[in-house]
Parts: sequence; structure tokens; C-alpha cells
Amino acid sequence: MTAIDSETQNQRVTIDVRLDRRRWSDHLAEETRAGLSDEPPWIPPVWFYDELGSDLFDQITRLPEYYPTDAERQILGNHAAEITRITGAEHLIELGSGTSEKTSLLLDALAENGLRRFVPFDCSEEILRSASDSIAAKRPEIDVHAVVGDFHEHLDALPMEGVTLLAFLGSTIGNFEPDQRRRFLTDVGNVLGSDDWLLLGTDLVKSEDRLTAAYDDAQGVTARFNLNSLDVMNAELGANFERDGFDHKAVWNQSESRIEMHLVARRDHRVTLNALDDLTVELADGDHIRTEISTKFTRDQIGTELNDAGLEVASSFTDNNEDFLVSLARPAQR
Ligand code: SAH
Ligand code: TRP
Repeated sequence: MTAIDSETQNQRVTIDVRLDRRRWSDHLAEETRAGLSDEPPWIPPVWFYDELGSDLFDQITRLPEYYPTDAERQILGNHAAEITRITGAEHLIELGSGTSEKTSLLLDALAENGLRRFVPFDCSEEILRSASDSIAAKRPEIDVHAVVGDFHEHLDALPMEGVTLLAFLGSTIGNFEPDQRRRFLTDVGNVLGSDDWLLLGTDLVKSEDRLTAAYDDAQGVTARFNLNSLDVMNAELGANFERDGFDHKAVWNQSESRIEMHLVARRDHRVTLNALDDLTVELADGDHIRTEISTKFTRDQIGTELNDAGLEVASSFTDNNEDFLVSLARPAQR
């Protein structure tokens, strides 16, 4: 279903909605049921992102402890011209685009060199609409074709004609489980044509102190972000989580090389979720629910995983502190 939302003489903003709302909410309900029935329990991260959650995430990206956004912005600022020169991209696609704030740096450089279209892709229609409108207003020379979709399901909805640069920033790939990551990268490798490129942002392994501080800030914004997912489930799934009975905790899992967000019960809970056929979840004082993982990589690991997906790194860029890595990759053996 494609709707042309606004059209001027030489510019169009279109929103292509691939997510079927019913199927999407059934899917999320099933995921949540599976997660809460697992031992130890977990929930899908989608419950972070209602309007308040998106706003809290935006605040996280500005926290002094949360270095990834600044590091990635620095990298894009320093290397956008080079990325433009290497790729010669006519189309830019961004998966999990959110507000596309950092992407402006790429858009500026690419637009000077013949970029014709920007394709932001996200599961949140509201964020996509506002991001698309503000980008279109600033850049009358490019078309904006937004896609509302699930990046685990709808990569086939991506328009792939013309030399395409596909960006996946913010270390969102770190939020995937290893097998999900493998499948995702393989799917990306399959949609890219021989002249196309992947630009992948990944956070790097560093000291445990800095990692846990980035996910448990002094102002408590990340704690509010994490706890908000309980309010969202209460509203969306007819649940009765008592949010003041849980603590936010960021845990470094050394063997999986990842930070995990947990909600720790401060007393015994008995929770019912009406929209999951009155599924009842019992939690004892001290029990954990895992809400998100954020994997931290080494350069070698990224190179290997890209190779396994039929991709090869052409260039990679890091910030002054070597906190974050942006890799530019292309299909191998062109
Ligand atoms: N790229 C931005 C935002 C990262 S937050 C940055 O670097 O800051 C992750 C984004 O992915 C959110 O905007 C969220 O709505 C989106 N997202 C989460 N799960 C998704 C899914 N399954 N399919 C598509 N987008 C998803
Ligand atoms: N992709 C981001 C990351 O892994 C998402 C994120 C940032 C996040 N802060 C968070 C997820 C706090 C959960 C909780 O860094």
C-alpha cells in the first residue's frame, strides 16, 4: 500500500506501509508470551518505544555517559565525503532510521554528489512520518520514500534500483541475538546488487565500567526508559505490572560480549496479561526479566560475520577514542 502524502513539482514524500497492524501485534504478542514463559524470562525490546520511550531514547543519545551516538556522529562527520566518493550512491536506505539525526551528515555529502532518493525504514510509522517531513523540507532536491516495516521480514520491500548505500547505524545490530544477526546479514547480502554498499555501525568492546555506565546513567534516564516498557505492556497488552516494584539493572555478560538490560523484581509479583489469554507470570523477589541486549564487537568479529554473509569490508572508520566502528562493505567477488 503506497500513499503519496505530498508532492511538489520536483519532490515527493511517499510512505509505504508494509506492516500489517494485526499481524504485527499478533507477532509481538506471541514473542512476548514466549519470552515471559522462558527461563529466565525476557521481553522483546519493541515495548520500549511508545511516544515517551522514543523521547527517552532521544535523551539517552545525549547523555554524557552514552558515548556511541557522539562517536558515530564524529565518524560520519569526518568520513561522509569519503563514503560518498567510494560509493557514488544514488540512493540511500537507512534501516531502523528513527529520527535519522546523524544521517543528515551523510545526506549532506551524498546530496552534493547526485543522491536522488532517501529511504528511511522503521517499524514506527509516527517517527518515520515526522523524520520524512523534516528531511524533505530541508532537502528539496531528493525524494523521500519511507517504508514502515520489520527489518527481519520486509527487506524485500526495499527499492533497489540505482547504486544504493544501505545504512544500519547506532549499533542496532548489537541488539540482535547471534543467529538473528547471521540471518539479517545474509538477507542484506542477498538484497545488495554488485554495485551496492552496506554501511554498518557497531559499538566496540571496552572497559566494563564505561559499558555499564553507558547503560545505567547517573540521571536515571536509561532506568526510566527500561521501566517504561512495563507501562507500555500494561497499556498494549492489558497487563498489570507494578513498575515501582522493579529496579533497572545493566549487566555485562562477558561470555556473550554484551550488555544486558534487566528489570529486577524488588518483591514477589503475580502479573496477568489480558491480551495474552490471561497469561499469568509469577516473579519472586530478586528475579530478573531481560529487556534488551547490546552486543559489543571487535573489528575481527565484524569482518568475519560480514564475510560469512558474502560481504567484504572495503573501508572501516573509527572515532578518536576507537570506541565505535563504522564499516563500509560490499558484496564479495564482484
Ligand atoms: N538509527 C537510530 C535509531 C536507533 S534506535 C540511531 O542510530 O540513533 C532503533 C530503531 O529501530 C528505532 O527507531 C526502532 O523503532 C527501530 N526498530 C526496532 N525494531 C525494529 C524492527 N523489527 N523493524 C524495523 N525497525 C525497528
Ligand atoms: N542500539 C542501542 C544500543 O544498543 C539501543 C540502546 C541504547 C538501548 N540505550 C539503550 C537499549 C538502553 C536499551 C536500553 O546501544
